[in-house]
Amino acid sequence: MAKIKSVYTCQTCSYTSPKWLGRCPDCQTWNSFEEGVQEAKPLATKSISSGQSSPKTISSINIEKFPRFHTGTKEFDRVMGGGITRGSLTLIGGEPGIGKSTILMEVCGKLLENNQVKKILYVSGEESESQIAQRSKRLGITSESFYIFHETRWERVLESLKEIKPEFLVIDSIQTTVSGQLDSPAGTLSQIREVTYELMNQAKSLGLTCFVIGHVTKEGSIAGPKILEHMVDTVVYFEGDQHGQYRILRSIKNRFGNTNEIGIFEMGESGLREVENPSQYFLDQSLTESFGRSLSCIMEGSRVLFVEIQALVVENKFGTGRRVSQGLDNNRVALLVAVIDKYVGIPLSYNDIYVNIVGGLKIQGREADLSVVASLLSSYYSKPIPQDFLFLGEVGLTGEVRSIPMMESRIKEAAQMNYKKIITSVRAAKEYKGKMGIEVVGIAKASDLKSLLFF
Ligand code: TYD
Ligand code: MG
Repeated sequence: MAKIKSVYTCQTCSYTSPKWLGRCPDCQTWNSFEEGVQEAKPLATKSISSGQSSPKTISSINIEKFPRFHTGTKEFDRVMGGGITRGSLTLIGGEPGIGKSTILMEVCGKLLENNQVKKILYVSGEESESQIAQRSKRLGITSESFYIFHETRWERVLESLKEIKPEFLVIDSIQTTVSGQLDSPAGTLSQIREVTYELMNQAKSLGLTCFVIGHVTKEGSIAGPKILEHMVDTVVYFEGDQHGQYRILRSIKNRFGNTNEIGIFEMGESGLREVENPSQYFLDQSLTESFGRSLSCIMEGSRVLFVEIQALVVENKFGTGRRVSQGLDNNRVALLVAVIDKYVGIPLSYNDIYVNIVGGLKIQGREADLSVVASLLSSYYSKPIPQDFLFLGEVGLTGEVRSIPMMESRIKEAAQMNYKKIITSVRAAKEYKGKMGIEVVGIAKASDLKSLLFF
């Protein structure tokens, strides 16, 4: 009999080592190694393709159309690439408590309501049957074809799949489901890999459409992310501000559609509601005459979102000023403050500076730079900026205003939403002036904002 060998696997990046290591040499994570048994057959040799195949030219291949289920929730269908592809396996990731179980339960309800599927099995290792039933009542799901199963053992799930024969399956969550084939505890990399692999095989052979929930770690990645993401057809993340109401569903990988699409939802008393007019969702129209605020617009996938950037500049009499920013990178704000200091000639180093994106949104790009500068100046001079101005541009280290991508979509949407003036780079202004039914003003330097807006 072959000797059983132990192998230690990094739970973050799946690096393996014959010895326990304190720190992973590959991804540098501390304390991430778990002991497991070396599998007799390496998973890489397992194959899901059956029979013989040979290389073909494109024209000789029959292109299959992928039939889809439509939930009727526009935002959800859109993120999935125009509906859920039949027979596909989707991973939905997100922090605990963000609403993954809720959204999938609502999807189940819609699919049954719209007669898209006949039977659904919802397997939860996380909550008891009565907890799930209570939630589904609250969400208004009463269908008799909705089966709930509290189970963590994969073998039992498989039996019930064969017995009930659902067309749609939800596993809540991958971290609580265990296969009896392995000794390692639930949630370890080898368990996650094994269960996902089994699931994928069964889903393909039974023609099941399947959703798997995966919790993300504090660092923001699904445990064993690489492996899961490789194996499934579609990966979507559900994110948002736990304390705020909005949630964003974002597609990261989609074998059957566009990635980078987002859908915006709002968490309410009776579950999630899709947001009707997302481009304006993050704005608060009520404070017209206040200073220290300006508007910009950012792109999320192909979607335009208008955002409000607020700044507060107050004199600090006791030394070095504080810098606090929410929703924006602190270093980016520091850079823009330095640009104002140098090129507008305002000694901002003696001021406390606070910058905030309204609605709890986070901006990663540099598309809102010019708007940040405008808000800072508006706060410093205590002079408001008109509500129907938009600032679109990146600001460089010499204070120059640069163009940002996808200007056409942004300007089009701005014109539709009745904004009056766009302040942007000289280059973008040249290109779009007089073309889109909205005034486009180009400035070469961020310091030109002072004379344009205030003095
Ligand atoms: P849940 O779907 O359990 O999150 P996850 O599966 O991602 O861990 O949802 C969690 C939160 O949503 C919970 O704190 C309660 C809240 N919630 C509502 O506000 N309204 C509702 O109708 C429902 C069902 C949940
Ligand atoms: Mg849950």
